[in-house]
Amino acid sequence: METVSERVAQVRAAFATLYGGEPTLWVQAPGRVDLMGSHTDYNEGYVLTMPIDRTTWIAARPRDDRQVRIHSLNLASGESFGLDDIQRSEAAPWTNYVRGVAKVLQDEGYALCGFDGLVHSTVPFSSGLSSSAALEVATATLFNELCGLGLDPVRLAVLCQRAENTFVGVNCGILDQYTSAAGRAGHVLLLDCRHLTHTVPPLHPDIAIVICDTRYKRALTGSEYPQRRAQCESAAATLAQRYPGVRTLRDVTLEQLDAARTLLDDTVYRRARFIIQENQRVLDLAGALSTKDVPCIAALTAESFAGARDLYEIVVPQMEAMIAAMRCAPGVLGARQAGAGFGGCMVAFVERGCVERFGEHVRAAYQAATGIEGTVFAVEAAPGAGVLTVG
Ligand code: GLA
Repeated sequence: METVSERVAQVRAAFATLYGGEPTLWVQAPGRVDLMGSHTDYNEGYVLTMPIDRTTWIAARPRDDRQVRIHSLNLASGESFGLDDIQRSEAAPWTNYVRGVAKVLQDEGYALCGFDGLVHSTVPFSSGLSSSAALEVATATLFNELCGLGLDPVRLAVLCQRAENTFVGVNCGILDQYTSAAGRAGHVLLLDCRHLTHTVPPLHPDIAIVICDTRYKRALTGSEYPQRRAQCESAAATLAQRYPGVRTLRDVTLEQLDAARTLLDDTVYRRARFIIQENQRVLDLAGALSTKDVPCIAALTAESFAGARDLYEIVVPQMEAMIAAMRCAPGVLGARQAGAGFGGCMVAFVERGCVERFGEHVRAAYQAATGIEGTVFAVEAAPGAGVLTVG
């Protein structure tokens, strides 16, 4: 990957070619990786999540009319739209994240102005590291600064999630946008998706977080994600009849679930069981990562992956090959799925001194098993979205 100054120079040169002159405002928003808590967010549960040092930048200059001109350096594509009539784009679907955020902000009554903007991202696309949320959050951060909207990170995240739900049409939870907007450099977040709050449990300094990308592409707009969500909601609705006060699976204990097993169809039971167990694993892993309790990290990550495979059924063969490669690599403390599953990236906890050897082993073993060249890279906890100061 290029250095920051190379990246700045590249964006600056492309901006001058596209629009003439210089950007006056630069913003960034990070991607994220979930360390524990698959699909718990839309059940109002917990997630242990980390903003990563893979970011989406927008370099921009305000306009005095109501046009937004937006271009992506990665995709070599761009479009213009007017803020008075925001429609979806079929020709450049990536601009729908920008359009959607503008639309939702205006629908909420915020007064926006036009801009010329250039996007550049180091978050891999369609890999489960939230490149979409990073673009949404970068867009909202840009409007927040340009137009003085006064949005705090949580409100900003909620509006970006709404843009994704209502304009893009993906019924995601709050995890991705919240992490990107509210992250803190050097910290993991223990996110409470019901109360939209977080704490920052310490991560032991010897533990490196390593992403292992299966390079098997996943698409969240398929039917699997909404189906899982509907199954969880149906479980909660059935259980609420037996246990008053249950609103979501967050409110249900394993004992309650098992006592009501006959009320649920087997698939729905297994989905609910995974979520309830995964929620507890989030809380347990937060403790284990701060004390570097290796047996506990190994057990929790193994249980999470087994549940994702057998109960939640979001594991594809490429993920099985990758987990096998990760589990026998040097320095590994634990390994599991990440993101929504169905391919994309996975995450490992690795002894800091072993990251390079870990990567070499995983790449070779995964390629031998699948014929696919996976990518492996360590990530650090990055700051949440904000203004970038460029030299
Ligand atoms: C995607 C969604 C998130 C979350 C995860 C699974 O990243 O966008 O809201 O549901 O999947 O944990």
